[in-house]
Amino acid sequence: MSTLLWNKSGVKTDSSVMKFLAGEDIVLDRVLFSYDIQATAAHAHGLCVSGLLSEADVNTIVDSLKDLNDLWAKDEFVLDDQYEDGHSAIEAFLTKRLGEVGGRVHLGRSRNDQVLVATRLYMIDSLDAITRLLLDCANASLERAYEHEMDPIPGYTHLQRAVPSSVGLWMGSFAESLADSAELVSMTRKWIDACPLGTAAGYGVNLPLARDKVSQELGFARILINPMAAQASRGKHEHQVVAAMWQGMQDVRRLAWDLSLFSTSEFGFVQMPPETITGSSIMPNKKNPDLAELLRASCATVGACMSELQQLMSLPSGYHRDLQLTKPVLIRATRVTLDAITLVPDVIRRTVFNTTAMRNAIDNPMMATDQAVKLASSGMSFRDAYRTVGESLDDLLEVDPIESLKDRVSPGACADLQLGEIAKRVECISSKYNLA
Ligand code: ARG
Repeated sequence: MSTLLWNKSGVKTDSSVMKFLAGEDIVLDRVLFSYDIQATAAHAHGLCVSGLLSEADVNTIVDSLKDLNDLWAKDEFVLDDQYEDGHSAIEAFLTKRLGEVGGRVHLGRSRNDQVLVATRLYMIDSLDAITRLLLDCANASLERAYEHEMDPIPGYTHLQRAVPSSVGLWMGSFAESLADSAELVSMTRKWIDACPLGTAAGYGVNLPLARDKVSQELGFARILINPMAAQASRGKHEHQVVAAMWQGMQDVRRLAWDLSLFSTSEFGFVQMPPETITGSSIMPNKKNPDLAELLRASCATVGACMSELQQLMSLPSGYHRDLQLTKPVLIRATRVTLDAITLVPDVIRRTVFNTTAMRNAIDNPMMATDQAVKLASSGMSFRDAYRTVGESLDDLLEVDPIESLKDRVSPGACADLQLGEIAKRVECISSKYNLA
């Protein structure tokens, strides 16, 4: 490991202790590295605005940071355990190149606000990407809802046949839930849109830092004012970010559950795209919905990351090294979410719906509720109507399920799905957050 930024002369660092302290941090810092470089350049500009760094120095520092970023993008800079972390690697690169000038950039900041700002920028980019993908999932669901608006399918409660429903209602439910989740994710992005850089170790510094300027350069909406609150936001914000992702993932989990259930021979309602189906190593007849199952399980991973963050957040005020462990779970949850939801729009668009099998699964007793409601609306009390119909379930009038769907006029139900309203909402979320 290169010389430690904080090493005191005369004290030898123990390599096994150092290994434990670093953990997988250097590997994870690869995810945050370009954000750290970007924030370092903004900090250097800020120091210049405050008259703490000459224009000549800032220009050489920023030029070198650009070179570092290019080398990093081209895989020509290696971030490995020769450095304690990404922050040290940036400073080592600058001092190797620029000598004493390189060491000037850390004036007025600490690795504590440095990691905060890099993580914040990473979370913002990730939340934008996740919102876009969730909206695409919602749009794909809407397309299928329009396409099969009035195609009947049983509506189940307790997994028991209940009342006639439609594919339009079923797919529309995903569109609306996914729009809710996309909005939550984009609201979370707005909630965390504040710059922690310039709060240093958590108590500010004896310098007139140009915090607003730095914040603007990095594209933040505002600064996180109180330095102790900035430290306290570490983990707290990560938790909310992962919780918002989890909401999207639990929509995906429900969809994956439905698809795997409805693709069994017992139901035969859907066929998932052939490329998503796997076989068995022993049973030649098997067709397995592994993709749906792993999409479903991915939600558990994100939920576990959320719980791990909750366990970590039991700390007094100020920075504590415990907070380093918020990094792996945030990055894991983000990767898993992105990997999963990238695949979902295509699955929704390409799954085949066997409308005949769906229609045939609706039996006449499923009309009982409609008939009780009809009796009650012509004057009988609902409880009497319920009993009357319940006693004659075997002799119920044969009803075409489509007719039942046409009668379901309560707002949101099969005859009034208001898919256009859901589409407008999806559109509105995407334009409100400039995600078009
Ligand atoms: N790797 C550290 C973290 O993630 C960086 C901050 C180190 N700060 C400190 N005071 N040791 O928290």
